[in-house]
Amino acid sequence: MLIAIDGPAGAGKGTVARTIANALQFRHVDTGAMYRAVAWLARHRGVDLADSAAVVDVARDASFELSTRVVVDGHDVTGDIRTPEMDAAAAIVARHGDVRQMLVQRQREMGRAGRVVMEGRDIGTVVFPDAPVKIYLDATPEERARRRALDPAHAAGKQGASPDQVGQIAQALAARDQSDRTRAVSPLTRADDAVYIDTTGVPIATVVETVLTLARQRLALQ
Ligand code: DC
Repeated sequence: MLIAIDGPAGAGKGTVARTIANALQFRHVDTGAMYRAVAWLARHRGVDLADSAAVVDVARDASFELSTRVVVDGHDVTGDIRTPEMDAAAAIVARHGDVRQMLVQRQREMGRAGRVVMEGRDIGTVVFPDAPVKIYLDATPEERARRRALDPAHAAGKQGASPDQVGQIAQALAARDQSDRTRAVSPLTRADDAVYIDTTGVPIATVVETVLTLARQRLALQ
């Protein structure tokens, strides 16, 4: 009983995953928060993010609490991991194959219990290739940048972004997309058997309804 939701930043994964997890009373696991938390902890300990062996050491012993708050090794980093600096830092960490291996192992353990909605970039392709429900959410780069600029969970959204800032966010998103899509290990790509949903211009409630209907059918839930 696992629902895998993948797609680029700003496609609506977070809102959709959280809402359907609530509706189905499943656990919601945001794997992006794990990459962000490892990046935060590495920075906190003065570790060079480019040094994959050192970052693996950080990831190996880290404890994660992923609920409404994100707590790593006892540090509540909920707000601190969603800044432009941490966007870039997490993308660097996510390029290291051995760091990914370590986090994928943790994610498989979390998913094994079942009744999980897991969101990320490689859930349907690598972490749970046999997931019974796979969704790939997408939207145009412009729409994704606009959403990110309005997202109160992110630093930019909190301050209310100006049109100039939306332009900057769009550029940063494009750079991160490029990094996520072209990295050597587990690049962001749509699984062949994932249901593709373009959310551009679609109200989030409609996307949630579509995913819920599909999940209920595939998992034979009421
Ligand atoms: O979803 P997010 O923006 O919080 O993800 C942060 C970074 O981690 C982003 O660069 C993509 C990467 N990531 C990944 O490579 N694999 C995942 N399963 C989740 C996130």
